[in-house]
Amino acid sequence: MTTLTTAPALEISDLVVRYGSGRKARNAPPAVDGVSFAIAPGETLGLVGESGSGKSTIGKAVLGLHPPAAGTVRLHGEDITAMSLKRRSRFAADLRVVFQDPYSSLNPARTIGQTLVEPLRLLGVRGPEAFARARAAVESVGLPGDAVNRYPSQFSGGQRQRVAIARALVCDPKVLVLDEPVSALDLSTQAQVLNLLADLRDEHGLAFLFVAHDLGVVRFLAQRVVVLYRGQVMETGAVESVTQAPQHPYTVALTAAAPVPRPAEQAARRTAREAHGFGTAGAAQPSPTGCPFVPRCPLATAVCSVERPPLRLVGDSHTACHHAGRVETLR
Ligand SMILES: Nc1ncnc2c1ncn2[C@@H]1O[C@H](COP(=O)(O)OP(=O)(O)OP(=O)(O)O)[C@@H](O)[C@H]1O
Ligand code: SF4
Ligand SMILES: [Mg+2]
Repeated sequence: MTTLTTAPALEISDLVVRYGSGRKARNAPPAVDGVSFAIAPGETLGLVGESGSGKSTIGKAVLGLHPPAAGTVRLHGEDITAMSLKRRSRFAADLRVVFQDPYSSLNPARTIGQTLVEPLRLLGVRGPEAFARARAAVESVGLPGDAVNRYPSQFSGGQRQRVAIARALVCDPKVLVLDEPVSALDLSTQAQVLNLLADLRDEHGLAFLFVAHDLGVVRFLAQRVVVLYRGQVMETGAVESVTQAPQHPYTVALTAAAPVPRPAEQAARRTAREAHGFGTAGAAQPSPTGCPFVPRCPLATAVCSVERPPLRLVGDSHTACHHAGRVETLR
């Protein structure tokens, strides 16, 4: 009998992640500060934000590579946050990752086949069956089956990223964390790899946590998006709503900074952004009790420094801003 489940494929609740130890680390703002979201089977959630906003840290906490200070990570409804390594390894096959840089994530001394059978060995799949699955995974990402006999140096960047995707797929996972998987590739290769990811997701019903700083790339693959700033969720909603009609000043700044193919439009956006007076990434430290965007926000008032705005429904998305109603003036 098939058991129907309504649990999200992946769900994180009130996640807090800190780096370092001791009093200094405890007093520093966390790298991830109270983030919650859920991803359904077959769905892609885009996680966007500028460098240092905590995107990869969320990925690391989900994968068990860095322990959260608080909050939970659930896979198919099961809390995996505090599981022992032994118990967690049973779930590891369901949750795999593709990193940005296929050069450093593949061992140059091993053939592709040797790299791909490694995670299978940990699941008890060995010998001819493991090699057959490695070959099938390589073929599923559009490479010839005999690629298993070659070394990473014999492939282009785009082909290596296909190999990294094959390595993630070989265990037949349900959830993939994709941390900037196309950022290191040229534009035409990016499009091919994004199309491949979309096909694989739809074919296998995979859930993707898709980390990217490029909103255009997110728009291509994701149905929903979470906008992160200094480890906190600024805005979340359907990808069209958030990118076409952003409700948070930071999302407006982010969409204005996103590259567009036409240089004239790019210049106009830059001028508009400068006219609105958005501060730069290195702006002063915000007060820990208020909105983290205060030092850069043209709409900031006194309340913003003392009260952290909760996420609330504004327009079609959830937004953490006291003055979301005035964001029209920035668009
Ligand atoms: N190993 C670490 N030790 C200490 N601090 C770290 C470590 N890794 C990340 N951080 C800090 O945590 C914060 C979030 O970093 P994270 O790598 O998650 O950002 P990101 O959004 O993935 O950025 P990028 O787009 O550059 O990859 C940053 O302030 C960063 O300096
Ligand atoms: S809460 Fe205030 S500082 Fe924060 S984004 Fe909104 S207007 Fe700007
Ligand atoms: Mg990162």
